Amino acid sequence: MIYLDNAATSFPKPEAVYQALDKFARESLANPGRAGHRMALASEEALTNARHRLNRFFNGKSPARFIFTLNCTDALNMAFKGVLNDGDHVVTTDLEHNSISRPLVAMAHAGKITLTRVPADSTGTVDPAAVKAAITPATRVVAVTHGSNVLGTVQPIAEIGQVCKEFEHILFLVDAAQTAGLVPIDVQALGIDLLAAPGHKGLFGPTGTGFLYVSPRSKLRPWREGGTGGDSSSPMQPTEYPYYLEGGTPNVLGIVGMIAGLDYVEKQTPDAIRKHEVELCDRLRDQLEPTGAFTFYGHRDPARRVGTLSMRTDVLSAVELGGILDQSFAIAIRPGLHCAPYTHMAVGSFPDGLLRISPGPFNTEEHIDLLATALKEVTGGI
Ligand SMILES: Cc1ncc(COP(=O)(O)O)c(C=O)c1O
Repeated sequence: MIYLDNAATSFPKPEAVYQALDKFARESLANPGRAGHRMALASEEALTNARHRLNRFFNGKSPARFIFTLNCTDALNMAFKGVLNDGDHVVTTDLEHNSISRPLVAMAHAGKITLTRVPADSTGTVDPAAVKAAITPATRVVAVTHGSNVLGTVQPIAEIGQVCKEFEHILFLVDAAQTAGLVPIDVQALGIDLLAAPGHKGLFGPTGTGFLYVSPRSKLRPWREGGTGGDSSSPMQPTEYPYYLEGGTPNVLGIVGMIAGLDYVEKQTPDAIRKHEVELCDRLRDQLEPTGAFTFYGHRDPARRVGTLSMRTDVLSAVELGGILDQSFAIAIRPGLHCAPYTHMAVGSFPDGLLRISPGPFNTEEHIDLLATALKEVTGGI
């Protein structure tokens, strides 16, 4: 199989990730606990080490502010349900994944919050001035997707962060699902209060991993409570971070895998991985564009996007093409709406969707050439 669906989850993982998972699962997979036996302590130590690594990589205020979650969706829900109160207003954009838009729309439908969605321009980019214009005295959160999972466009979060800093009452939330591990993110320099990311995409951990960074000025209520592996005498959730937000047994195995993935990212460097992926996307576009059979979406400037490319053709629907590529050519791509209906509405590809390819570091030029040949064959291009 030629796997070109890394925007959904990265595959394959670096070899060191498989090795770390295997070793930890066989030797150390105890339930982490601060008051436990030596294996529990070692397991807790693995989590502490992971928080330090994330804190260094994203320049957080403290390792304890990195809360482990099931995935990016879990982190986003933890943030919204933890900070929003009745009457709050939220500014978001057209580019949001359902993991942002659905919790917010549900809260808006319940009459709890009001919501403004700032449109993206034709390149798939949001204007910081439009974000500023949408802010009201009731705005509590500005929530922006750093990289569009449909168009690959990278948003000007430094400028949007600057806008948010002008308003004391606003928390700036960034969804880094498509950029963590690929685009440098310094939460302090960018003024990010809440950073949600999956561990299973650009950080190369297994599925079931993710985190939420919570800045000290963000005041969250826990959206789940329970055991924390420490002092059990209190009837209430401990207020100490990270345990305040981390009830239940964490996915320590997955987190160990994610940190092995982070080792790989740091060694290769995010810039080099992103450059490779963007170049593979450009190679595909360069081969298909001359046929005139395909329309491409997103920004042309490599500096303004990650390695995700979406396209369409009149010859076949995206879903049909995706099925043919899978069944006849053993090529995995992602057709459809990519859990981002508002993005497709914005670029005019709703409800049919687009064909999305998202290479990873282990894809080669040969993979792209095989895909280009397959697409030309299926659509009758030359
Ligand atoms: C932009 C964006 N945000 C959030 C998510 C949700 O991530 P997860 O599947 O880890 O919950 C995705 C997943 O594709 C995404 O692309």
